[in-house]
Amino acid sequence: MSDRYAVIGNPIAHSKSPLIHAEFARQTGQDMEYGRILGNPDDCAADVRRFFDAGGRGMNVTVPFKEQAWEMADERSPRAESAGAVNTLILLPDRRLRGNNTDGAGLIRDLTENQGFDFRAKQVLLLGAGGASRGVLGPLLETGLATLVIANRTASKALDLAAAAAAAEDHVSGCGLDRLSGRRFDLIVNATSSGLAGDVPAIPPDCLAPGGWTYDMLYGDQATPFQRWGSEHGAARALDGLGMLVEQAAESFFLWRGVRPATAPVIALLRGGEQQTRA
Ligand code: ATR
Repeated sequence: MSDRYAVIGNPIAHSKSPLIHAEFARQTGQDMEYGRILGNPDDCAADVRRFFDAGGRGMNVTVPFKEQAWEMADERSPRAESAGAVNTLILLPDRRLRGNNTDGAGLIRDLTENQGFDFRAKQVLLLGAGGASRGVLGPLLETGLATLVIANRTASKALDLAAAAAAAEDHVSGCGLDRLSGRRFDLIVNATSSGLAGDVPAIPPDCLAPGGWTYDMLYGDQATPFQRWGSEHGAARALDGLGMLVEQAAESFFLWRGVRPATAPVIALLRGGEQQTRA
């Protein structure tokens, strides 16, 4: 029987993870299957346990269960620990669950390996101070960037997040969105959920430095609202989060199977699918 993996979330029908992992498995010759589980929105613990009791080997966890998966994990990687969220569960030989978080690595790999962004000496702005932001903060701070500003609509949350990170790194600060005037950034990463409502964070129109890039952690069949903001405000590159999605999946796949799949053909496949959707 094939080794079983799945992604749990709510909603889950839209998830591209089964397609991505099926492609990785085909490409690397791994004998595995990967399904979708609609978790109970109030408490996914029973759904997770049922999957592993029935022989599951590993699980991806998506919205809104990443914090609960962090609580469920018997042990956690340093990345998961600092993120306070788990997107990858691994069943250990002694049947305990190890929690990892591959979101940050996925973002950095997409920006650096796929897109060629060089973080060194760069001024970076991270928008949002919720779970998505916390998940990528640690890996962002390890890139060699010059300064990271975390800005949030509710300033106190950005200040708290920056203060926690500043214990280990001194090149990070937090503020409200209304404190960005006069500042210029080489890269703006949108980790807010504003795009889900068709909105963009209220940031000054001139806070992108000449030649700067924007990156929206969301993706969709069409350009996301923040991608459009980037294009309209002179971004040299205005990227969406599809590459991050595939890269975080590849990191999870590597943790489970010890094999690193090629991501470029899978990103191209998904982009092709989107174009067909638009056409
Ligand atoms: P997630 O897990 O996706 O990060 P979250 O923890 O609910 O979800 O956090 C959502 C983030 O998006 C928050 O930083 C939120 O700002 P507030 O803390 O002020 O609520 C941000 N956000 C959501 N809608 C937004 C909008 N229209 N403009 C700016 N920020 C927004």
